[in-house]
Amino acid sequence: MSSIIDEVDYGPLTQLLGKWVGNKGLDTAPDADANPDKSPFSDEITFSVSGPAENAEEQNLVSIKYYHVVRKLENGRIFHDQIGHWIYEKSTNIIMHSLSIPRAVCLLAGGEYKEEDGASIFNVEAKAGSQTFGIMQSPFMLEKATTKSFKMNLTVKDNELKYREVTSLHIYGKDFEHTDESTLTRITYEQE
Ligand code: HEM
Repeated sequence: MSSIIDEVDYGPLTQLLGKWVGNKGLDTAPDADANPDKSPFSDEITFSVSGPAENAEEQNLVSIKYYHVVRKLENGRIFHDQIGHWIYEKSTNIIMHSLSIPRAVCLLAGGEYKEEDGASIFNVEAKAGSQTFGIMQSPFMLEKATTKSFKMNLTVKDNELKYREVTSLHIYGKDFEHTDESTLTRITYEQE
């Protein structure tokens, strides 16, 4: 059955649609002494369409939604879970990425879409304190494990997706660069 969503031009977001899997991830997170704790991981991301939106009768956006689940390679245990949207405005070429994680942190990051050597490149950034591309966190997290900024580079070429995220934290009295990177392969274009 077709719907209005099927008739929408998702622009560069079309490259992301489908289900992706990988087992080449690496997480660098703070241990209790704020030293780097490295964990190889497998991950799955499912992107599906979420339709167009018109804002204040002048801004035309298209968006897709995703679910990202990350498992420790050594035991298969889920140790990160993330949901969000990627949003595109054709007239300004702006890309936005909203995400939420169940540590009570969510953010809206922004940047410009570009293409290089046949690859689609999505670079976005958010900073705590910004009223636009900013970060919201619970009172506990703000006090004890502050997310100060977030940068993400995601590149798609054909059926390969790579990402690298740098989440700058202030935790245990120190600054810490929490990084995550992975390479995934598309296994289906199907929409759920
Ligand atoms: C693939 C993506 C990610 C993975 C696998 C991951 C994994 C982890 C792990 C294993 C820890 C240490 C937890 C502990 O010590 O109990 C951690 C800490 C943390 N992560 Fe992530 N993370 C990811 C992405 C993110 C993102 C996108 C954000 C926020 C925008 C974030 C925010 C935090 C914060 C605030 C902490 C500190 C909490 C604490 O250790 O007390 N993470 N993450």
